[in-house]
Amino acid sequence: MVNPFKFGTVVEDCFFTDRRDELQYIKSVLNSENHLILISPRRFGKTSLVVKVLHESERKHIMLNLQSVVSVEDFAGRLLKEIFRIYKFEKIKYLIKNFRVMPTFSLNPMTDGVDVAIQPMVDNRVLIEDVFALLQTLATEEDRIIVVFDEFQEITNIDKNLDRLLRAIMQLHKNINYLFLGSQESMMREIFEKKKSPFFHFGQLLHLDKIPYEDFKFYLLERLSFIDNANEICDEILAFTKCHPYYTQQLASQVWEKGKKGEMDDIVNSAIVRLLEFHDLNFERIWLNFNNTDKRILVWLANNNKPYTLLGIAQSTISSSLKRMLKDGYVIKTVEYEVEDPFFRNWILSH
Ligand SMILES: Nc1ncnc2c1ncn2[C@@H]1O[C@H](COP(=O)(O)OP(=O)(O)OP(=O)(O)O)[C@@H](O)[C@H]1O
Ligand SMILES: [Mg+2]
Repeated sequence: MVNPFKFGTVVEDCFFTDRRDELQYIKSVLNSENHLILISPRRFGKTSLVVKVLHESERKHIMLNLQSVVSVEDFAGRLLKEIFRIYKFEKIKYLIKNFRVMPTFSLNPMTDGVDVAIQPMVDNRVLIEDVFALLQTLATEEDRIIVVFDEFQEITNIDKNLDRLLRAIMQLHKNINYLFLGSQESMMREIFEKKKSPFFHFGQLLHLDKIPYEDFKFYLLERLSFIDNANEICDEILAFTKCHPYYTQQLASQVWEKGKKGEMDDIVNSAIVRLLEFHDLNFERIWLNFNNTDKRILVWLANNNKPYTLLGIAQSTISSSLKRMLKDGYVIKTVEYEVEDPFFRNWILSH
């Protein structure tokens, strides 16, 4: 029997649980002329959620992950390639004749798709304008398109003026819903919530939270019911992971492995120990890179913000340390600040 837990990549079908309200919300945005901004800490399930929406929708869609985009030309090229995936090249090539800069197209016999090559250029603005104009021409009232930009916070790393240009173009578009997904929360906030930013209030904001306790417990119970005391075991797992989607699946997966081997003794703790063995060196290296203030704050967070041991550190120092660790992903903020990785939290507590 295959392990019924999955972590690290997009989860679908039987690996996907809950998110009913969020699915409903996104669908309602897609059913309007508005755009969506989906923000959460890393590995909360943004991509999985949107992939599910796309699969359930009958509309044409494009999904581009900006993390692997290296330049404006690359961005335009990838977008074009995606356009050719949903509209056959042969059918729309006449529209490309209007391009002011002509990319090189070649048929890729391996993928059956069209490869696009674009030389670096001084003024790549026209290229972006032309590609988006093509998209707008293809989108009609009967055939509305969904365009998803994953890891959108990377936009400013591709080119510092690209956000301004995109906003200028997209604000005029009709029959296209743009979805912007991003982690590094503070950066996404800079882009969408700062008055000075070109994308200020560009779409409807959705903050993705952890998966609700009861839903996640039900999901775990269904898959771990073959273990004695499954009810308590599931509570133990969730108490450790605090319902973090990725870490819950990871720990549950290890518990399942142990359960199948009949290693029932203190099963959750021994699964935690097993997973910690993989991380030990890594945690030590990460720890050594923190300054003293960071370390004290992390210990404080690991102890569930108790006892009050931050006395003597100026509030402004605490704030800037938290801000930095939040940006780097070591700390997350849901109801309150917490150490992002429960295994790291456990490591901190035991050192
Ligand atoms: N709805 C869900 N049900 C169960 N598990 C989930 C769900 N959503 C996410 N997960 C768990 O979290 C992991 C990360 O999901 P996903 O890659 O979609 O998150 P993300 O927010 O896009 O992450 P990243 O910030 O790395 O892009 C999944 O592999 C899975 O283990
Ligand atoms: Mg993702």
